[in-house]
Amino acid sequence: MSKKWKVILDCDVGHDDAIALMLGAAHLDIELVGIVAVAGNQVLEKTLKNTLHVVQHLGLDIPVYAGMSCPMVRDQTVAGEIHGESGLDGPVFDELKISAQEEHGVNYIIRTILESKEKITLVPVGPMTDIGMALRMRPEIRENIERIVLMGGAYGLGNYTPAAEFNFLADPEAAHIVFTSGVPVVMMGLDLTNQALADRSIIDRMEGIGNKAGKLFGDMMRFTLESQRLFGLEAGPVHDVTAMAYTVHPDLFEVKPAYVEICLDKGNCYGRSVVDFYGICGKEPNALVGTGLDKGAFWDFLEENLRMLP
Ligand code: RIB
Ligand code: CA
Repeated sequence: MSKKWKVILDCDVGHDDAIALMLGAAHLDIELVGIVAVAGNQVLEKTLKNTLHVVQHLGLDIPVYAGMSCPMVRDQTVAGEIHGESGLDGPVFDELKISAQEEHGVNYIIRTILESKEKITLVPVGPMTDIGMALRMRPEIRENIERIVLMGGAYGLGNYTPAAEFNFLADPEAAHIVFTSGVPVVMMGLDLTNQALADRSIIDRMEGIGNKAGKLFGDMMRFTLESQRLFGLEAGPVHDVTAMAYTVHPDLFEVKPAYVEICLDKGNCYGRSVVDFYGICGKEPNALVGTGLDKGAFWDFLEENLRMLP
């Protein structure tokens, strides 16, 4: 029997991106058909290299593609202070022996969606540049997208500016294209993802699994224990994992319908997601927005799946 969800992960590895990748590779109901690396936490050269390292380290048979190296409109910004100079500081990998596919990641996304007999679920967990480009180049792909389950935005405070979360701020125009596309969107914003904190007890628990995936979790998340203190957080949130988890286990989450608009004014609110739960804007909801997480069940779910990996 074919797997329940055909998923393309678009990511800017990144510590939490890597764990989302592991979950997607492990879960029995997910067919992770491809991974596209995008510029975000670090420049594309680094996020692509990090993605390939994780795939090689765990011996995953999943093709990796290089996506966009810069945002659609604004100048590039990266998050070295959180993920380190490499974009994945902490773990030490063997020499990289695998490489990305020749095809550009945006063309891969378009081709795969148009050719697929089943609808494709897109899970973008970095700046949504690749998704925005694909939707602009071939709008007809909207008909064969199951939904876009993304990590980004917030209805409360941002984390890169007081108003904006990093993924949306790094490419606001791409986020705007996604939320105005008409494709069903599930938004895992900071209000939800900051509930998924990998503190020392969680790190010890995942390392205790005793496999390569558990050790990689520990090597990565011990690094973010320190870097997240910048934001007054006691530990590193595994932001991106919530998007992959929702794809197959929505009952771990409380979500509410909302009208979401991205601020494109080049001021203090640039890249902010304005989230209207109450119809004040007079617009129909265009997303389900994560508000609550069953933390205990979430970590049980993640541990169960990391145990499935080498
Ligand atoms: O703001 C959190 C997001 O920024 C996550 O996707 C994290 O990986 C970084 O890209
Ligand atoms: Ca990310």
